[in-house]
Amino acid sequence: MNIKKVVFPVAGLGSRFLPATKAIPKEMLPIIDKPLIQYAVEEAIDAGFDELIFITGDTKRAITEHFDFKPDLNISNLTQDKKNFLSEMHRIIPDHISCKYIIQKEPLGLGHAILQAKEAVGGDPFAVVLADDLIDAKQGALKQMLDHYKDEDSSIVSVQKIQKSESVNYGIIECNKGSESLVKITNIVEKPTPENAPSNFGVVGRYIFCNKIFSLLEKISVGVGNEIQLTDAIKLLLETNPIFGYEFNGTRYDCGTKLGFIKANISYAFKNTEYAKELSGFIKNLS
Ligand code: G1P
Repeated sequence: MNIKKVVFPVAGLGSRFLPATKAIPKEMLPIIDKPLIQYAVEEAIDAGFDELIFITGDTKRAITEHFDFKPDLNISNLTQDKKNFLSEMHRIIPDHISCKYIIQKEPLGLGHAILQAKEAVGGDPFAVVLADDLIDAKQGALKQMLDHYKDEDSSIVSVQKIQKSESVNYGIIECNKGSESLVKITNIVEKPTPENAPSNFGVVGRYIFCNKIFSLLEKISVGVGNEIQLTDAIKLLLETNPIFGYEFNGTRYDCGTKLGFIKANISYAFKNTEYAKELSGFIKNLS
């Protein structure tokens, strides 16, 4: 199946992380030494995607510069070690992968951001990754989703069980019982109150869409938060096409919140044996 294109909406204002995000997108914030967007890109490349489409803000160019970085290896006083290090940095994106950067002139919402990719995607199905949802998994979440993907007319949205009290932070699905990890979605609501949440399955930022989603994104008007909401287009798509909810294996960190971002940093630091021992003593002392 021809799913080679993946869209990364990275044009949000990042208002929860101000002032850190005044000049850089929140997706450039690092977990240890790697920006969130790089984890997302690596997950997509591992899953076999080879056309990366970034929807960036008008003023924040750091993502373009991060991936287009080409070190000057001819500087005369570079030691071989430094040369090796710089060429390693250069290899963030292998040569067979193409990158496109599209500017979203106004931050009108996630749905509007994805619509900016319409021309670049053309007529194919495609994936969307929200880099502030960091997923730590043995096999990447996108790859897991591709393994469950059925055909060009269907779509898959990744979901996880959440506390109902948290429903105001998520798109929440209503679904028929399916297999253990795959359910058929029958309805979806953006950020409902806990009383109005149709289930405890919250949408996490990994999607595979049939191409029809673009024409629906063009149709919808502003929704929750005065933004063009992806969820509203998904709801329309449900009227004609099957959409599945996939409960991925892995741990998701909501790095769109400060607490989630801190937890991700701690957890990734503990994966590194160099830091783990000292860190555990340090945290014990703190608490
Ligand atoms: C967006 C979507 C929401 C989804 C969430 C996952 O919300 O609108 O449906 O559940 O991402 O992270 P945001 O977090 O951008 O407010």
